[in-house]
Amino acid sequence: MSIEIQKVTANIGARVSGVDINKPLDEDRTTALREALNVHKALVFDDVHLDDEGQEAFARHFGDLTTAHPTVSAVDGAPNVLPVDSERGRANHWHTDVTFVLNPPQASTLRSITIPPYGGETLIASSAAAYRDLPEPLRVLADTLWAEHTNDYDYAVPEEIDDERAAQRAQFTSIKFRTVHPVVRVHPLTGERGLFIGGFAQRIVGLSTGESRKILDILQAYVTRPENVLRWRWSPNQLVLFDNRITQHYAIDNYDDQPRRLNRVTVAGDIPVGIEGKESYSIEGDASHYTSVAE
Ligand SMILES: [Fe+2]
Repeated sequence: MSIEIQKVTANIGARVSGVDINKPLDEDRTTALREALNVHKALVFDDVHLDDEGQEAFARHFGDLTTAHPTVSAVDGAPNVLPVDSERGRANHWHTDVTFVLNPPQASTLRSITIPPYGGETLIASSAAAYRDLPEPLRVLADTLWAEHTNDYDYAVPEEIDDERAAQRAQFTSIKFRTVHPVVRVHPLTGERGLFIGGFAQRIVGLSTGESRKILDILQAYVTRPENVLRWRWSPNQLVLFDNRITQHYAIDNYDDQPRRLNRVTVAGDIPVGIEGKESYSIEGDASHYTSVAE
């Protein structure tokens, strides 16, 4: 049985068949999947009948796991599994997972558990395609920029929130993180450049908040171009593996009050590196309880 890769769009996304990820993978298959991930950024697997442990085992083929989240609680009895549950909030904002820590996860897996009968798609964008799309003057500017990422800002929180949302937010920010990353990150496996911003990037180093917002908005518009986005409509028993070093994602809140549940397991990442070889640095917050640093 050989692995088949079927592109979903020109810039991002592929469906994978011919490999049974319900069983342990040999080295050749793991290498083939890693190469496909490098090219397509997001891989979709069907006929997935994994429990939490199985999802962890699959993710572990790509590196050590992180715990569920630096501040948010895991699934009961599964410390590496984050419940992505409509009951606990809706991530309908563009972001790259956990970029407020020094070494964000290199890859994320999402496994469908409860899918609403309509809506609930996940958008995944290629920040490499976004970088390639930048006109020369903007690319030259982006190449020089560094941005501060933090978990402590008002994203997706309206001014007036109920007690439950206030408690969720208090937990989310119970440890405050601030990390400076290059706006243009070089992928350690492919050398490809990508815009490394997303919702946790709140400020450009050396600029005011207002100036930062304008620059980030200009760059972000290239990430969210429809041509750079995979819009994934979930079916039951699917798993999506995406490269968190060179993508952003967004969970569309378009399914009314119906339940939606995915479980997330992430793979520990390396410290990002900019185009001149300089590494990200932490200003505030220690995430060593959450993640090891990948080589
Ligand atoms: Fe996410």
